[in-house]
Amino acid sequence: MKLLVLTGAGISAESGIPTFRGAQGLWKSFKPEELATPEAFRKNPALVWEWYLWRRSVIAKAQPNEGHLKLVELEKRFGDNFLLITQNVDGLHQKAGSKRLVELHGNIWKVRCLHCRAEYYDYTTEAKDLPLRCMYCGGLIRPGVVWFGESLPEKALELAYKWAYECELFVSIGTSGVVYPAAELPFIAKRHGAKVIEINPEETPISSVADVIIREPASSGINRLTEML
Ligand code: OAD
Repeated sequence: MKLLVLTGAGISAESGIPTFRGAQGLWKSFKPEELATPEAFRKNPALVWEWYLWRRSVIAKAQPNEGHLKLVELEKRFGDNFLLITQNVDGLHQKAGSKRLVELHGNIWKVRCLHCRAEYYDYTTEAKDLPLRCMYCGGLIRPGVVWFGESLPEKALELAYKWAYECELFVSIGTSGVVYPAAELPFIAKRHGAKVIEINPEETPISSVADVIIREPASSGINRLTEML
């Protein structure tokens, strides 16, 4: 059986990383249009970097939780019939050991030079001199994440659609299901005959197509899922 798992910020909540939406969400205290768009970066790259370095410092202290680890076990069990697609940029799935992983929105530890186009991992969490500069050419670098208004990495998106068409079971974990195109994946899977399971303490648009709803935090929800499979 082909199993496709989609995760969002909710799976990292138990690792102490704030989600975007909801009462404690980042978008309650920060404005996405000032921090997470190409326009914001053009206007004030230092401010955007300051925000990303703060998020990096929160993420650097976090460890993968039981939910991340259980997904690694599922990957081992299902082998080639498993794919994990995450909207998260925190890298915790990799840190937990996930290998069959697609990062749909990029990775906060990656950077891209706007001048020489170099792409590399950068682990800076504090810097006096902002914005950060390219280690090769000194040009302006940007975080390797997808911002509002930008397209998703083409290969990653292609793979996500292919698996949404082909999977027999689609599991959505800890996503509000409002950011497209990721939010469309459970609907595509459902239309193509997959069973859909949602793990989320709250109702979301995905709940409307879910065959099974596990209204629990990610870690206990994934435990329950594992028992069901
Ligand atoms: P959101 O912050 O929109 O949604 C988080 C979801 O996690 C909500 O539905 C919560 O109910 C749920 N949740 C909270 N705690 C949980 C827990 N312990 N276990 C399971 N679920 C829990 O995050 P995303 O859906 O990931 O985009 O947001 C999608 C995109 O919007 C992000 O990737 C980011 C953001 O703007 C980019 O960075 C491009």
